[in-house]
Amino acid sequence: MTTVEFSPAAEPLAAKLLEPALEILARYPAGRERSALLPLLHLVQTEEGHVSPNGVAFCADLLGINKAQVGAVATFYTMYKRRPTGEYLVSVCTNTLCNVMGGQEVYDQLAEHLGVGHDETTADGKITLEHAECLAACDYAPVVTVNYDFTVDQATPESAVELVENLRKGDRPTPARGARICSLREMQYQLAGFADPREGAVADGVAGAPTLRGVRLAQEHGVTVAGFDPDTPITKTKPRVTEEKK
Ligand code: FES
Repeated sequence: MTTVEFSPAAEPLAAKLLEPALEILARYPAGRERSALLPLLHLVQTEEGHVSPNGVAFCADLLGINKAQVGAVATFYTMYKRRPTGEYLVSVCTNTLCNVMGGQEVYDQLAEHLGVGHDETTADGKITLEHAECLAACDYAPVVTVNYDFTVDQATPESAVELVENLRKGDRPTPARGARICSLREMQYQLAGFADPREGAVADGVAGAPTLRGVRLAQEHGVTVAGFDPDTPITKTKPRVTEEKK
């Protein structure tokens, strides 16, 4: 697919994004290009910070599907934003375990401090705040992420406010775990499946003590899995197929 007729609504984005969009499409087998919709929506967000009607038109024209089909996907997943977002998306988990451990207090303090509610952005355009469902890091509850990186573990209202103040000053604090903080648009580029060339953009390491607590307890009680080493590094990439077969 190299020649696409874009509608007037899609043309501005096509002028900027056609080349990487075609690169995304090329990852999929011929005739299955519509499966590229998820990374394409992230690509749209690298330009717009959200999925606008123009972004929907761009994806629909490119994939040869209708705008309702694109809209159905874009509105289903919370990582596709319907409104303009700030430079940093601060997500506070208020799901069950984080809530028990104080997540709601963290969210409430941030909302009051920033003067915004769920899915709203500060007037300076720096911070979008959101309630999040379980961020899959319950062992570090309550958890705060910035642009989907785990930034504050076992957060308190004070540590969360300190975080957003640093972000608003232009600092990019080192996260508790994971890679260096980037902007939300830079993160969208990664989510679209492109390598981030920044130094420290990808990080790895061993699992932390709270994550391994159950394993350690089991070991203390003589329950172990043969050959399991809790200090095994979490690798950045999947092993090559040839290595898996060895
Ligand atoms: S409940 Fe918050 S990370 Fe799971």
